[in-house]
Amino acid sequence: MKTESTTVYRASILHFLDDPDKAGEQAYEFFEDGALVVEDGKVIKTGPFTDIQKDLPEHVEMVDYSGHLIMPGMIDTHIHFPQVEVIASYGEQLLDWLNNYTFPAERQFEDKEYASRIANLFLDELVKCGTTTALVFGTVHKQSVDAFFEASEQRNTRMICGKVMMNRNAPEFLCDDVESSYNDSKELIERWHGNGRQLYAVTPRFAITSTPEQLEKAGQLLEEHPDVYMQTHISENKDEVAFVQELFPESKDYLDVYDQYNLLGKRSVFAHGIHLTPREHERFRDTGSSVSFCPTSNLFLGSGLLDIAELEKEQVAYSVATDVGGGTSFSMLQTLNEAYKVCQLRGNKLSALKSLYLATLGNARTLQLDDKIGSFNAGNEADFIVMDFNSTPLMALKQSKCKTLAEKLFAMIILGDDRTVKSTYVAGQKLHSRDGSK
Ligand code: GUN
Ligand code: ZN
Repeated sequence: MKTESTTVYRASILHFLDDPDKAGEQAYEFFEDGALVVEDGKVIKTGPFTDIQKDLPEHVEMVDYSGHLIMPGMIDTHIHFPQVEVIASYGEQLLDWLNNYTFPAERQFEDKEYASRIANLFLDELVKCGTTTALVFGTVHKQSVDAFFEASEQRNTRMICGKVMMNRNAPEFLCDDVESSYNDSKELIERWHGNGRQLYAVTPRFAITSTPEQLEKAGQLLEEHPDVYMQTHISENKDEVAFVQELFPESKDYLDVYDQYNLLGKRSVFAHGIHLTPREHERFRDTGSSVSFCPTSNLFLGSGLLDIAELEKEQVAYSVATDVGGGTSFSMLQTLNEAYKVCQLRGNKLSALKSLYLATLGNARTLQLDDKIGSFNAGNEADFIVMDFNSTPLMALKQSKCKTLAEKLFAMIILGDDRTVKSTYVAGQKLHSRDGSK
């Protein structure tokens, strides 16, 4: 082991190897007094501190976070960076919310400087909340995506982003056309996909705002670049579903619109999916496409209660996401808190271990990134967070009454937010610390 750049972090350590619903106790490793060994931005190993200590060279740097919990950085599979300022907009459901609040806000991203300012603010907010990777919508303007990737590159965060493709049913100032959407997306793929830690997602906004010709171009981009992602929205709101059926009368259902243009696959992420039919579930399963569950958004916009127990039963892959600015928090802890309540209203349970699995390894798996992030497997990129169980007096009181790990983690999810994240490390570098220390 090289000595110069090896750092050992001592703390309680939790990470997942599998889905707790499938593998039970074997699904995770928890070391009460553990250590995480990091070298050159990569995970070397993790284990009990006493074991790790035995074969360390003399001059490693030791960082002592005893009493805290180290976990892999969290992953958000659906969020809009230009919608930071749209958060908390009063009184509308999806289609009016888009027209009244979202589209006017996104217009400003024509200005690259404005886009850069918001991209930096957005990434700071994510990192502060312990999120180190996200699948992100830009706006229709290609410069918004350049601004985003430039800000991400500066931080060395692993981010996936794409230029929105939209050419109808939206204000003229926010529409591209079939050719420019294809050309701009292609140019961005060539510039950013696989450039450092940045990855690209072909991004048709949703079936309502793209003509069949534009969706065909989105399919062509995926065919020409088979390792890029595809992100869009589906079956979020009942009026939206009815409008799609009007626009595409020949389609069997909403998913079939995307299917006809070859937009399904294991790198395809569909936000919401609340009102899907059994046929659509089957198609999701057969193509390995995934649903992104956005509980704070679904509650805030009154969209509905996703039934994740049904997705489990139908073997549809799903992840968890914030969907800011329809969503109301950047914090994945707050998002899991609301996910728990949505499950309660559906008569289902969502355990703390399953929740934290989803926010880390589960989300990494739906993004096909579990060989790089989401757990502390040797060789993974060292994106990790240090959590403080006593981050507020209320949390400290509650934690003092908790007996099991499951109880402690559950209280951390329900009461936690950005204050719970003491530090965030990206590729082995400390990017955020609540006390401002370097
Ligand atoms: N459907 C199409 N565009 C959007 C968006 O920006 N946010 C949400 N929540 N749903 C959408
Ligand atoms: Zn969205």
